[in-house]
Amino acid sequence: MPKVGITDTILRDGHQSQAATRMKISQMEPMFAQLDKVGYYSLECWGGATFDSCLRFLNEDPWERLRALRKGLPNTKLQMLLRGQNILGYKHYSDDVVDFFVKKSIENGIDIIRCFDALNDLRNMETAVKATKKYGGKAEVAMSYTISPVHTEDYFVRLAADIQKMGADLICIKDMANLLLPYSAYSLIKRLKAETDLPIVLHTHDTTGTGAMTLLKAVEAGADVIDTCLSPLGNGTSQPTTESMVATLEGTEYDTGLDLKALTEIAAYFRGIADQLTEDGWRDPARVLSTDANTLLYQVPGGMLSNLIGQLKKANAMDKYYDVLAEVPRVREDFGYPPLVTPTSQIVGTQAVMNIIAGERYKMVPKESKGLLRGEYGRLPAEVNEEVRKKCIGDAEVITHRPADDIPPELEKYKEEIRDFYQQEEDVLSYALFPQVAMKYFEYRQAKQLGVDSTMLDKEQNTMPV
Ligand code: CO
Repeated sequence: MPKVGITDTILRDGHQSQAATRMKISQMEPMFAQLDKVGYYSLECWGGATFDSCLRFLNEDPWERLRALRKGLPNTKLQMLLRGQNILGYKHYSDDVVDFFVKKSIENGIDIIRCFDALNDLRNMETAVKATKKYGGKAEVAMSYTISPVHTEDYFVRLAADIQKMGADLICIKDMANLLLPYSAYSLIKRLKAETDLPIVLHTHDTTGTGAMTLLKAVEAGADVIDTCLSPLGNGTSQPTTESMVATLEGTEYDTGLDLKALTEIAAYFRGIADQLTEDGWRDPARVLSTDANTLLYQVPGGMLSNLIGQLKKANAMDKYYDVLAEVPRVREDFGYPPLVTPTSQIVGTQAVMNIIAGERYKMVPKESKGLLRGEYGRLPAEVNEEVRKKCIGDAEVITHRPADDIPPELEKYKEEIRDFYQQEEDVLSYALFPQVAMKYFEYRQAKQLGVDSTMLDKEQNTMPV
């Protein structure tokens, strides 16, 4: 039994973080037999943005992809990333949709569901975790890691205790922006190991250049499983590389038990795929592999910085870049210190840009900011600035209950809406999550089955990422 388990992310976060989630199932399949022999703790291979990307850009049925993964990797635990009540979309769904989605994910082959919520509001994960257990999956509950006056080590230790109480099988620290520095990781994981009974998993990135050091200190502190990515899509905006971690730990008390030679053979294949993704314009090695020191300074995740620059360029206001950068932490404070991850990173970033461009704070307030302040996304980690809230939403009622309590069952309605295209139960879920995108895919699928020239239909694949 290896001391440290490895979850390889090359089939999910690796290409999501470096290549706009564009790896196709046909690019994965040739390595299934070899990947299946490695002995990974698990392979992260589904969920996150892959579901949307399959339907929107790749003309693939994500459910068929999952079945192909299951068939090709019979001996490996398959893992997915789920955004709690948001499932894989960007809003809250009703409980019947969440429950059915989890059921179908497990039925089609998922073993471990890593569930997270942008605000760490456990009520937004309750239904997903319950369903995961009910249908026989392993529930891994993730804490979205961030730094703020409320997000102290004590906060995460308390949160972990609550996660254990809610029935999770594993606890994950999800450090999406690589803000967790090596010694903080050591200290936090030491305490989590002492104060909870569950296995501890660490997911980080190498965006700020500290990823591998953070993983090493985490392992020394007793982390049970770490996420790494095979070298062709490892490091930079992705996870630290699998081979480097395996080699580092080999022969120590933390040995992963994985064979470096087998890994390099698989990596050789994926190097070709990474090159292909680069050639196709989905991956810019210089950008995805550069170290982002600004995040260390401003704690604004790398992906968010490029969004801000995009918005400022559009408004012809690039000279305001540093003003916006300074405004981000102030907005975040006003909004009760949400961790900056989808969708809160976009909400806070857009509000900061508007505050600076308008020349007056909270003069322009998008509906997403209002929703966040109204509690529509769940409980904010700290007290919000009441003056700001008043200016943004007036006397509108603030929701304190679980947001999904307001959503009536939706499954039957969706089923009715896709009656003409319905081919499998899972279609209802694809449609529930991404109505227009799924409908276009269903039309494509039907046309293809009817023998319409598929080269014409495949044009969609070249659509630029949104
Ligand atoms: Co990630």
